[in-house]
Amino acid sequence: MIVTIDGPAAAGKGTLARRLATALGYVYLDTGVLYRAVAKSVLDAGGDPDDGAEAAAHAEALEPAVLEDPGLRGEEVGDAASRVAALPAVRTALLAFQRRVAATPPGAVLDGRDTGTVICPEAELKLFVTASIEERARRRLEELRSRGETHKLPQVLAEVAARDSRDRARPTAPLRPADDAVEIDTTGMTPDAVFERALLLAGERLAVVEGGSGPSGK
Ligand code: C5P
Repeated sequence: MIVTIDGPAAAGKGTLARRLATALGYVYLDTGVLYRAVAKSVLDAGGDPDDGAEAAAHAEALEPAVLEDPGLRGEEVGDAASRVAALPAVRTALLAFQRRVAATPPGAVLDGRDTGTVICPEAELKLFVTASIEERARRRLEELRSRGETHKLPQVLAEVAARDSRDRARPTAPLRPADDAVEIDTTGMTPDAVFERALLLAGERLAVVEGGSGPSGK
């Protein structure tokens, strides 16, 4: 079974996706890290994150080892990631890898912006995880502070909002829920409560999928 978890920045997708993958015994792919790695590679080379040909060349040359780089998590890289992510040639270069991981048996959990709409439109369970902009900015601030970075809430809020609107407005693979996605607004919810809700939905879908080989087709 494939589970996709899309949503805006700092909505708690990563924490949820990782826990769900562990609980189900599935592989987990954070697709955002791919765009972050392309962005960092472009920035490190002194390149322009808005240049399609240049960014696509970095995307094609991406090595799996760079995905572990802790330097990918910062806001500067996140901002450049949402710029390279708007370039169709970059998205095309990263597509086959994401689909290959999604096809890993017995299943995969992917999180990102377009995993349910473009990468895996056939996914059996699609979640769209959101939270208010204030709560997401607070969560991102905590994450940045836990890594020793000093930021102020209004600045983080403005950065998160700018990235979301760029992700929603781009013509290629914009951030939006798939028509058949289940939306979870995590504002005021604990990570445990979000996980329990998602696990319940996954269990229900799995029962349908595993029972689906019968003559009724259900
Ligand atoms: O999820 P994360 O904040 O790490 O993603 C960084 C950026 O990568 C996002 O702002 C978005 O522009 C881009 N992205 C995307 N499609 C995905 C995952 C991430 O465009 N599936």
